Amino acid sequence: AAGRRERKEDHVRLATAQWTGGARTTEFDDLEFLHHALGGVTLEEVDLSVRLFDREVAAPFYINGMTGGTESTGRINQQLAIAARETRTAMGCGSVSIALEDESAADAFRVIRRENPDGLVMANIGVGRSAEDARRAVDLLQADALQIHVNAVQETVMPEGSPDFSTWLSGIEQIVRALDVPVLVKEVGFGLSARTLAQLASIGVSWADVSGRGGTDFLAIENDRRPARDYSYLTGFGQSAPAALLDAAAHREHAEHLRLLASGGVRDPLDVVKALALGAQAVGVAGSFLKAVVEGGADGLIELIGSWQQHTRELAALLGARTVADLRSSDLLVRGRLREFCELRGIDPGTYSRRSHAS
Ligand code: FNR
Repeated sequence: AAGRRERKEDHVRLATAQWTGGARTTEFDDLEFLHHALGGVTLEEVDLSVRLFDREVAAPFYINGMTGGTESTGRINQQLAIAARETRTAMGCGSVSIALEDESAADAFRVIRRENPDGLVMANIGVGRSAEDARRAVDLLQADALQIHVNAVQETVMPEGSPDFSTWLSGIEQIVRALDVPVLVKEVGFGLSARTLAQLASIGVSWADVSGRGGTDFLAIENDRRPARDYSYLTGFGQSAPAALLDAAAHREHAEHLRLLASGGVRDPLDVVKALALGAQAVGVAGSFLKAVVEGGADGLIELIGSWQQHTRELAALLGARTVADLRSSDLLVRGRLREFCELRGIDPGTYSRRSHAS
């Protein structure tokens, strides 16, 4: 248990360090909006509220699952929950598994519901846990939904990982059947392929967060935790969120009912709007918000989220979009490595650069 607690704190420390470096380039930079100078929309008419599970949330982004289980990570959860409450933002938490085995770790999660009794809160559990554990995780937070994280790369690289992936799909299916709250399956920064999404849809999963590479890098984090096991050569493994969204949109035939969320490397309101334009229903943010809360507490994060709420609406107006749905017919140029990804996956990037012709 001591090792587990240490791991939670390592993750926060190393992830925060990754986000305090200089500006980072990601595949979001390979996407550019075509500018139309007469957009015809006024800021007042922009409404970017979205439905997340069965609830309406005012802004199309949320605080993604991160931490909990120790005193210091409990304080972070408390600050995140205060910011979520004050800005009416949905939020997740880190894997609740630690609290299912050790009651003394539970308060670092319960604090989320205590601070934010009416907010949209997601519990979180690793794939491979039983349906009973999943139910207990939801109960602990009186959660509105459950995030199940699939983290094959992390299990491969992490010193205490268990790379047995053989029962993952059937395990998720059992949880989906047993729970009466929506289940959201997410990666942790390596992306979900169209094939994976089709598999999830086939077992009745209704929400998936593609959580791609380019942001918090768990390869580097786990590698730093035990440098004797060097996997640094794997750097760059997996797909970015933009690549995953393009892949999903082009190969949707087996996943029509799956609603997509995006995360992984979201740095600013422009990244949020780009992910929405590629079809995400809402956008998850972990590292950018963790940095804000570690540096400025709940107040720092409230200010940052408030400014993102304002800016995402301003960007929508600039792009001539009144709603998230309108953003999906904006013209997007796909360049660089992302364009190469499209070519290799048989996706025509030209369909994105000429979308507004139809309207
Ligand atoms: C995470 N993430 C994560 N995800 C999850 O489903 N369960 C977890 O326990 C954790 N733990 C965790 C700890 C810390 C400190 C961070 C920063 C992140 C992954 C997170 O939800 C997200 O998928 C990735 O971090 C990619 O998004 P960003 O950070 O690039 O915005």
